[in-house]
Parts: sequence; C-alpha cells; structure tokens
Amino acid sequence: MFIPKTIIEPFRIKSVEPIRMTDVATREGVLARAWYNVFQIRAQDVLIDLLTDSGTSAMSSEQWAGVMRGDESYAGAASYYRFRDVVEALTGFRHIIPTHQGRAAEKILFSIVAGPGKVVAGNTHFDTTRANIEFTGAEAVDLVIDEGRDPRSSHPFKGNLDPAKLVALINRVGARSIPLCIVTITNNSGGGQPVSLANVREVREICKKHGILFFLDACRFAENAYLVKCREPGLASRTVEQIAQEMFSLADGATFSAKKDGLANIGGFLAVNDDAMAAQARNLLILTEGFPTYGGMAGRDLDAIAIGLREVLDEDYLRYRIRSVAYLGEGIAAAGVPIVTPPGGHAVYIDCRAMLPHIPPASLPGQALVCELYRFGGIRGVEIGTLMFGRRDPASGEETVGAQDLVRLAIPRRVYTQSHIDYCIEIIAEVNRNKDGLRGLRIVEQPPFLRHFTAKLAPLP
Ligand code: F0G
Repeated sequence: MFIPKTIIEPFRIKSVEPIRMTDVATREGVLARAWYNVFQIRAQDVLIDLLTDSGTSAMSSEQWAGVMRGDESYAGAASYYRFRDVVEALTGFRHIIPTHQGRAAEKILFSIVAGPGKVVAGNTHFDTTRANIEFTGAEAVDLVIDEGRDPRSSHPFKGNLDPAKLVALINRVGARSIPLCIVTITNNSGGGQPVSLANVREVREICKKHGILFFLDACRFAENAYLVKCREPGLASRTVEQIAQEMFSLADGATFSAKKDGLANIGGFLAVNDDAMAAQARNLLILTEGFPTYGGMAGRDLDAIAIGLREVLDEDYLRYRIRSVAYLGEGIAAAGVPIVTPPGGHAVYIDCRAMLPHIPPASLPGQALVCELYRFGGIRGVEIGTLMFGRRDPASGEETVGAQDLVRLAIPRRVYTQSHIDYCIEIIAEVNRNKDGLRGLRIVEQPPFLRHFTAKLAPLP
C-alpha cells in the first residue's frame, strides 16, 4: 500500500491573521527599545511567535460555533454541564471545578493541602506550580529521573518521576510531611518530555502505600498519551483516549490549564475525587474565581473547552502535532544545532551552553540566542536558563546561574504551517553558522522575583 511521506496539516484555514513583515534594521530598534527582553516586544513586531503554546491555539469552526451557544447564566449554565460531562467522561473524577486558568487550580489545591513544614513531590514542578507551593510555606521537590536532566539522553520517557528518589524522600522527611505528589504530563520544565503509563502506575502505588495523594498536572495530557501510544511497549493498539482515561483513573485528582490541550485561549479546572476536599475547593473558588458553575470563565469559554477536549484526542491531529514539533527539531539538529533529544510534545529546546560555549552562563547564552533569533529572523522564543532561574544575591551582588541554559521554541497548536517552520529552520541554521560572533548580555535592572518578564538587559561589548 502506498503511504504518503508528507503529513499534511489536518485542517483547512477559514480565517487568517496577517503577519506584519519587518526587516532586520527595524527589529534591531525594537529589540533595543525593549531592553533586549522579548517579553517587552509587541506581538505585532514578531514574525513567528514561539514564545508559548499556552492560550495561542487556533480554535476550530466547531469551537467558534460553541462560543455562540455559550450560556452566560450566573448559576447552572448549560455550558457548565456540557463542559463537566466531557471532563467527567475523560477523567472519571467525581468533582470538576472550573478555574480561569491552570495556576488558579494550583492556588486552590495547594491552599488546601500544603503549608509550612510540608513537602510536595513532583517530576519537575512548573514555575507557577512551584510558586504556588512555596507561597504556602511548603517545599517543592523535583524527582525526575537522571536522564531527564541530560539533554543528550534519548530515553523515551524523560519526564518520568524516579520511584527510588520518591522512596528516599519519604524515608528522609516522613510520609506525613508529604501531603501530595504531582506528576506533570508532559514534563514542561524538563523539555516537554512524556511520562509513561508504567511510571504513573508505579508512583501511584508508592503514594497509595504511604497515604500520599497522587495528582496529575494534565495540561498536555493528549500529547503525553499520544507519545505513550507511540513509545510504550504493548500500548500501540490502544486509542489515545483510552490511554488518557487510564492515566486519569490512577490519580486522586488533577489540575488542568485548558490553554494547552484544551485547544482554548483561556480556562482550566481542578478535579478531585474526595468530597470534603471538593467542598473546601469550591469555597475557595467562590472567593477568588466565581460561582462553581463558571469559576472565572464565561459560559462561551466552557463550551470552547468542551469541544477542544474532544478535538485534541483526534489521532490525525496528534500525529500532525507531534510530527510538526519533531520536524523542527530534526531540521535544526541536522544543521548542527544541539537540541534536547528527543524533541518534546509541544516545543523544541536548544541547548545554548553546548551551542555557544564562548558565552559563559553568567553572560546569558540563552538570552543571547533569543535576541539573535528575533533580530535576524523575527522569531520569538523564550530563554529557560540563567535569566529565568538565576538569582542575584542582594547582599553580595553575586549572580548564581541556572542548571541549564535552554531556549524553548514552543509551537502554538494549529497556527503555523510547514512553510513557517521551514523558515524557522532556515533562520536558526544561519544563526548557528554565524554563532561565533554572538555576544552575551548583562542585566541592567531586575525585579526581586520572576525577573525574566521585566528585567532590562544590555549587550556586552
Ligand atoms: N502547568 C504547566 C505544566 C504549564 O506549562 C503551565 C503553563 C501551567 C501549569 C500554568 O497554567 O498558564 O494556565 O496558569 N505554562 C505556560 C508555558 C505559561 O508557557 O509553558 P496557566
């Protein structure tokens, strides 16, 4: 049988958003006025925006139709019940609590279970998750397998939580100090790497034995389930939906940002099985998010998510999605750019310490590449390295550096075509050829926390 090699985008484009073309000279001015911080650049000055895959999806015609059907009743809106039914069928959780985005679900969950003296285990906590845990006075501990920290390891499930590290943590601090363990699928901070079903099962068994709640941060559950289907022995004949359902069935609850695999521009939920915990969560929800049948969203958003959660499980979509991310990764790797292998579910990560060894970590090699990709090609990526995670000691002025210096190129869902990605490959390959001329940056001004969003930078001479 003839099987075409080309995987096409499984959609036609009905509505377009023009890209404003700019040249290098214009972008040099934009970059200088933004103090070499791409968070300060206006989106209209960007050609290809790979800053994030969050909230940037293109909605389908069905989702837009759902937006029109949205029921904006304060209490008991039909939109809520459509949303709840879809989430219930997918996850099996007893209580589905809508929130305006993922971090709002985290805030509520950790207000209930965390607090001073507690330790929350995870594979790699995403930064909002970590911040919400630490805000309660608890400690967030990352227990990803060692391969997950090695950019060149080709382990198929680099997002896995190391069961031995979890047992060691339990032995060290005692199970009573650990209210909850949360596994992020896919592991965003660790390179968008998947977590296997076998690993989820094993971690859950350890948690169950010690009376620790087991949760999923399920933002990218469909991409994770598809990678499980492709890579985990014995699961190829299962549907992605069945794999996702089984993952959820192993957990006591989940947090979810619908801005990723909800294929929506806003939204999220907290789902739990425990009745008492759900009652507590709904009380907190009313304080900050809204009534339990809308929780910080408009009815139309609930409908868009309900439809998005069905569409994201379409295996033709997922095949195209995962392939298009791998295509970018393979394209730049073939040009000699060092990337985190294998490419993750939603993004390609460039290893800038390997690419730019002449720029020491303290001079922000990741940010140097981010700036050059924008200057030379109008591409906006994001640094995940010393600018994001390094700290300046307020007393000594000494800078600590991040564990790695990566640049993440996150691909919005259903937004860019293959020629957009081909353009990115061409630009990145050319930047790589001229990389020896790149210079580092210094921080001119920085806020006390989350400095990467607003810091002012200047190129080094
Ligand atoms: N968990 C993970 C794994 C995430 O990637 C994000 C957001 C959140 C939680 C928080 O969700 O933004 O809806 O409040 N990640 C975005 C990103 C911001 O660019 O990776 P949110």
